[in-house]
Amino acid sequence: MVAADLEWGIGKANGLPWPKLPGDLAHFKRVTSAAAEGKRNAIIMGRKTWESTEVRGRPLPKRLNVVITRGTLSVPDGVLVAGSIDAALARVGEVADIDTTFIVGGAQIFTDAFAHTQLRYVYLTRVQGRFGCDTRIPDLDNEADLTAVAWSGACEGEDNGVRYRIDRLAR
Ligand SMILES: NC(=O)c1ccc[n+]([C@@H]2O[C@H](COP(=O)([O-])OP(=O)(O)OC[C@H]3O[C@@H](n4cnc5c(N)ncnc54)[C@H](OP(=O)(O)O)[C@@H]3O)[C@@H](O)[C@H]2O)c1
Repeated sequence: MVAADLEWGIGKANGLPWPKLPGDLAHFKRVTSAAAEGKRNAIIMGRKTWESTEVRGRPLPKRLNVVITRGTLSVPDGVLVAGSIDAALARVGEVADIDTTFIVGGAQIFTDAFAHTQLRYVYLTRVQGRFGCDTRIPDLDNEADLTAVAWSGACEGEDNGVRYRIDRLAR
């Protein structure tokens, strides 16, 4: 799940660089929370995203939160800590009630995730502006093996004067 501006920027000063986009936040919550009956999804994030102004070290509800760090981290009960994406996936695999696993950032974790063999989809929000980001992901338009696929959730939106388009990419 990633939102990027026209320069593939995703963050600034450890937060999101654009004005609040309630429609995109609702999309994020809807997609990452929708799980099969009796199950929940997992979200995996880097330590900086965990500490970002959006998350502030508080787990996103109704999802298993997993934080990736090379160090040690004190986290609330129920949050998992792992040393790599593969270690995080292995930890998630040991939890019985998990449906789908989402990688939710930031750039360091996304860059590894885009190359991961288990990646199925990229949910991409393309924010139609340039926001002077200090954190960027690779140019997904030039990732020859990732293309937008038909998906009922694809849409365009505008919040606080900022337009965006939501697509699902697949290999
Ligand atoms: N627009 C979006 O969709 C979106 C989504 C999420 C975040 N963001 C933004 O992105 C920015 C944060 O991204 P970021 O790239 O700076 O940081 P990040 O990817 O969230 O976290 C980086 C940290 O993760 C750990 N890490 C990274 N690779 C690792 C590996 N291979 N093995 C073990 N640990 C690893 C390290 O933690 P330690 O230093 O503790 O070892 C590293 O410092 C913020 O501005 C945030 O708001 C944007």
